[in-house]
Amino acid sequence: MHLSKFLTENKNYNHNLKKYDYNDLSKVISAISYSAIEISKIIYSPQSKDLGRVTGVQNSDGDFTKSLDLKADEIIKQKLKNNYVKWYASEEEEEILMLNDAGSFALCVDPLDGSSNIETNAPIGTIFGLYTANSNPLNSILQKGENLISSGFFIYGPRTIFVLTLGKGTVAFQLSDSNEFILINKNIKIPNNTSEFSINSSNYNSWPNGIKEYIEICLDGENGSYEKKYNMRWVGSLVADAFRILVRGGVFLYPQDNRKGYEKGRLRLVYEANPVSYLIEQARGVSINGINPILSLKPKTLHERIPLIFGSKDEISKIKKIMEK
Ligand code: F6P
Repeated sequence: MHLSKFLTENKNYNHNLKKYDYNDLSKVISAISYSAIEISKIIYSPQSKDLGRVTGVQNSDGDFTKSLDLKADEIIKQKLKNNYVKWYASEEEEEILMLNDAGSFALCVDPLDGSSNIETNAPIGTIFGLYTANSNPLNSILQKGENLISSGFFIYGPRTIFVLTLGKGTVAFQLSDSNEFILINKNIKIPNNTSEFSINSSNYNSWPNGIKEYIEICLDGENGSYEKKYNMRWVGSLVADAFRILVRGGVFLYPQDNRKGYEKGRLRLVYEANPVSYLIEQARGVSINGINPILSLKPKTLHERIPLIFGSKDEISKIKKIMEK
């Protein structure tokens, strides 16, 4: 089934349906998918050699952006400017932009996630979340993740994949040769149990004690209190690590740590943690900041960071138990 047909057939999915016109929502999601097709074409083109080139521009976090970060942001803005998005908040923009005063949606977007991987040909992606908009830009964007009406991400990898939720389950599409997103999984379910964890272990010395304790038990394998051998995977692109967990289970941990600038974690609540957590929870997984559900947290600022731990339900319970001690 094509994305367009899926969007037409799943009108009744959304809990917030009365607050906006569903046809407008479908148009916004389609426009985001056209942006992703354009971004993927740039990535797959041998002519686009210097996409990983560091620009002189610093983003809101003080990181130097790469040429593809800025291109992706421009493409999404262009595709949506005549659409139904009123407020546009991007990881690449300092402030919230107004795209269409008459629009009913507020869009949060990480145009190019995993940009440290661009030149290595590892998967990278685009992440978005959609809320209903009101007249105030900050109120529209700084909402709890539980108010999301839709979220999704695209992975530009060996295959271009689109993972989407409209608030009732999580589904995945794959981009075909004829540039159509075709449904490949209509009901993603994360297994409750896992023996695979995902963390950047180079930060071990800076982690909080609870995270050290959990990972040490995993490393003890059959001799540890969980009595099983664990495997480890870390792509370093949130979209790729999240998709693996959606497909076969696992846990992802990017905790706060005591390096300078990482006291609240690394990932952005508005552009990364909320949209991904909505997809994970809609696929029966769990997503927390260590203690509380990510989706229950109200962002205070546009670019704030948050510790992010998500994945298979039973494994997250173990981590939570340790973190609560
Ligand atoms: O936020 C960008 C990001 O590249 C994520 O996609 C990824 O999970 C994380 O940062 C990787 O961080 P690190 O380079 O510290 O392992």
